[in-house]
Amino acid sequence: MKSRLITEYELIPEKVAVSETLYHTANGYIGVRGCFEEGVPSGVKSIRGTYINAFYDTEKLHYEERYTGFPDYSQCMLKVVDAQSIKLFIDDEEFSMFEGELVSYKRILDAENGMVERVVQWKSPAGKEIELTVKRMVSFSQKEAFLTSYHVKCLNFKGLLKIVSSITSQVSNMSAEHDPRLGTSGGNRLLVKKISQSGNISSLECQTRNSGLTSICSMSNKLDTASESIVTDTDNSISETFELHVEAGSSVTLEKFVTYTDSVRYEDPFKDNISINQSIQSAGFKKMVALQKQYLDEFWNHSDITIKGNDDIQNGIRYNMYQLLQSASNDMYSNIAAKGLSGEGYEGHYFWDTETYIYPFFLFTNPDLARNLLMFRYNTLNGARRRAREMAHPKGALFPWRTINGDECSAYFPSGTAQYHINTDVAHAVTQYWQVTNDHEFMADYGAEMLFEAARVMYDIGLYRRDGKFVINEVTGPDEYTACVNNNYYTNLSTKHLFEHCGNVLKLLKDLYPKALKKLAAKIDLDDDEVPGFQKAASAMYLPFDEELQVHPQDDAFLDRKVWDIANTPKDKFPLLLHYHPLHIYRHQVCKQPDTVLAHFLFENNTPLDIVQNDYYYYEKITTHDSSLSTCIFSIMASRIGDEKRAYNYFTQTARLDLDNIQGNTDHGIHTAAMGGMWMAVVFGFAGMRIVNGELTFRPNIPSEWKQIDFNITFRRRQLRISASKTAITVKLLKGEAINVFVDGDMIELQPEEVTA
Ligand code: BGC
Repeated sequence: MKSRLITEYELIPEKVAVSETLYHTANGYIGVRGCFEEGVPSGVKSIRGTYINAFYDTEKLHYEERYTGFPDYSQCMLKVVDAQSIKLFIDDEEFSMFEGELVSYKRILDAENGMVERVVQWKSPAGKEIELTVKRMVSFSQKEAFLTSYHVKCLNFKGLLKIVSSITSQVSNMSAEHDPRLGTSGGNRLLVKKISQSGNISSLECQTRNSGLTSICSMSNKLDTASESIVTDTDNSISETFELHVEAGSSVTLEKFVTYTDSVRYEDPFKDNISINQSIQSAGFKKMVALQKQYLDEFWNHSDITIKGNDDIQNGIRYNMYQLLQSASNDMYSNIAAKGLSGEGYEGHYFWDTETYIYPFFLFTNPDLARNLLMFRYNTLNGARRRAREMAHPKGALFPWRTINGDECSAYFPSGTAQYHINTDVAHAVTQYWQVTNDHEFMADYGAEMLFEAARVMYDIGLYRRDGKFVINEVTGPDEYTACVNNNYYTNLSTKHLFEHCGNVLKLLKDLYPKALKKLAAKIDLDDDEVPGFQKAASAMYLPFDEELQVHPQDDAFLDRKVWDIANTPKDKFPLLLHYHPLHIYRHQVCKQPDTVLAHFLFENNTPLDIVQNDYYYYEKITTHDSSLSTCIFSIMASRIGDEKRAYNYFTQTARLDLDNIQGNTDHGIHTAAMGGMWMAVVFGFAGMRIVNGELTFRPNIPSEWKQIDFNITFRRRQLRISASKTAITVKLLKGEAINVFVDGDMIELQPEEVTA
């Protein structure tokens, strides 16, 4: 039931911060953690926060030993004005669920209506009882809007009710010295520039300390009962206070309308903010909810996956898809942060997570949004060019390993800048987009430029060895427990694919878009022999293989390292990165996440299945899954090699990764890559979907635990519905022209008359 995706019935103080993540509300532009309006007592851990995607501050990075090419500045997604606060007073008593008696408590994430609802029955220490129903929503139809409906029912008393609704810039980012997954430069970096009032709208205009960005937060409040209100402000907050006399049995509802705008996207963020606030006020909460539902009906119609046979998993799947939607930017200024807009882990940075793990979900369910995600990379191409020069590459572009504004900001190069595969990952998303949509124009206008520029850097870091093989040295592959190696299998294989695609794209441009090619060649100074050079390197690409073990070594030296004894490592020493010096880890055969196994999934290369299988079991033994990007890929590849038990086990760990706080750090935010990986594990894993030579193919391997799975995908402007059980699969054409698909190698012709929608 999407209307009750997850529900909590108990208030557990130790779990408050995790629940704030799980119940956050976001729309790709703003994200509000699920904090209680009234706050929590000081002993309870809460991470109160509201974020705007790509609204960031910079801080000078301090290195005791600073070498050339080290990034100068860190970037950090900044907490913006907090507008969650609504305090309630009954006579002299302040409402807090942590005092008096919490008679009942319930919080629901409703993914059909796109809101979070909290229903509380509370008895004050003096015995006054209320029922509180709070609904909050970050709007998909009006991305700047955060709305709250705050309904109080007075159960057994008459007296004075006071409601104080506020916004404040008194917010501080988190920091942690000993956890590299959090930033080190927290604190308050939001400076108030102006406090203003226009009509019933109060606004705080703030500026970041260093990046010079501005954001505006405005609020207006409406009470359904006639009452005077007083607006007061301090140097960093504005409050509106309502006081009214109530009778037992009476109710009152406050509607709070909050709008955010920023100088990244708006020419006049203040003016736009006020006019959006006025328009959502006149629409009212109810209308905004109706629009939200309309938006989500469309979303679920394109994306839903239904599973018959396990409700917990079903919920996990829907929860994850909903979170992906909440996290994904729909404009060209921002992307998808590793934690979405739910928290400050990884400082709001964008990684390869987007292209490699999350991208397929959008590509096959919402190709327009997928296109936008690529446009973010295109728009930051100049930064990537600058970065390439800093790294001594005379031509081409090197995408940043972690970034918000397009500049590299990873301070630890062995598992940062050294991950040159970011270039092949972005390129892979571009070519996937091309294959799935057939959008040749995108390729001619933007894609080719990204591919050629990315390829130039990969070509520059490679060389022909004495035996004629093209090799790539001194890079880090996806597995961050191994760094700065020669011939990382993943990097070499993905580069080979990139080089080959450059050839295909050049042909496309020559055949269909000669003018665009001419323009591009002039713009980036492309020599006639460059792309043929890439193609030659692709054919000569060295892919390490160990004849004796019949496996692909992760890199040249990998098999010569000591094997880490995972079984005898105490449980409290995981994740290893928090307990051992990186060099100690690097000296071992131990993987944080799939590398070679991931390469087999993303870049199927006619590798015989028995070798894929050997690699799977070899690397499984030495993988800790310390990264949340791990189990989904092990599930997909277990499906590929026909190991149903493992496929299902790894899948269950992925599907409920945040709901069950499996990584132990959900309080820092959701794990968006794992959520995208979960979608892939259903579609690419269990349904065995692939695109082979431009055709859609299926090789289903549905777990015995499930009676049936159903999902929709969009492929080349058709909408298809796939229904599969252990023994049968049907593919229906819901919309669009006839198309052939392949199931277990057999061609099926789908005709438009089979439309069933
Ligand atoms: C993983 C990276 C990932 C990053 C952000 C790290 O733990 O090793 O592959 O990009 O998290 O999710």
